[in-house]
Amino acid sequence: MIELKGVSFAYVKEDVIKDVNLLLGPGVTAIIGPNGSGKTTLLKLAAGIYRPRVGEVLIDGINPWSVPETVKTSIRRNVVYIHEEPIMLRGSVADNVAYGLRIRKLPADEVVIRTEEVLEVLGIKHLAHEKAQTLSAGQKQRVALARALAVRPKNLLLDEPTANLDRCGRETLMELVKDLVRKGVCIAIATHDRLLAFKLTDRVVFVENKTAIFVEGSGGRWLI
Ligand SMILES: Nc1ncnc2c1ncn2[C@@H]1O[C@H](COP(=O)(O)OP(=O)(O)O)[C@@H](O)[C@H]1O
Ligand SMILES: [Mg+2]
Repeated sequence: MIELKGVSFAYVKEDVIKDVNLLLGPGVTAIIGPNGSGKTTLLKLAAGIYRPRVGEVLIDGINPWSVPETVKTSIRRNVVYIHEEPIMLRGSVADNVAYGLRIRKLPADEVVIRTEEVLEVLGIKHLAHEKAQTLSAGQKQRVALARALAVRPKNLLLDEPTANLDRCGRETLMELVKDLVRKGVCIAIATHDRLLAFKLTDRVVFVENKTAIFVEGSGGRWLI
């Protein structure tokens, strides 16, 4: 669970996020809003990548900016943020997926098992030995998802995850998200894809004019 309390943030001088209060709890929270409204910034604040100028972010109850560096690293490992344009590391697809497991110091055999498992789930087992950096945008997005799933994070933040996916990829993603929800994962999705947002989500956050309006779903109907 991630909580933003009175968070403001500026890249340069002017705030791009102003006094936002938000709870990214179990289930799916969709974050929608026009280009440049601050969706990515909000997710990076929630991931503990950016430090709020004012206010605090609590990741599973802990403010990563107020604890020693070692604690901060372990707190941040409970959150996976998938970038809009996923960055691939050098090496194979399997190496990319295994990386997150290796830095978490999982035993080697567990790394192999989990890597194979998620490649299978995402339908990219045949790409395991391909160079990750030479893949298409859609394939990279699947690798990024596999990489995230492998570490089984408690909090998953997806930034425009369907941007480069075809219909089949989109359906795989929806099924994955539903499965993660059943497992109790807290998921936030920044998306232009309103259908995805309304099909999957328990609550919607509209980002506009530097602030975020939080709308709780109500038995499949929306209070808007
Ligand atoms: N690295 C950066 N440096 C300066 N300004 C930035 C940077 N990244 C984003 N911004 C600005 O912050 C605002 C919010 O951007 P962003 O969070 O990327 O919006 P969205 O994801 O909704 O398109 C925009 O006005 C954008 O120009
Ligand atoms: Mg964005």
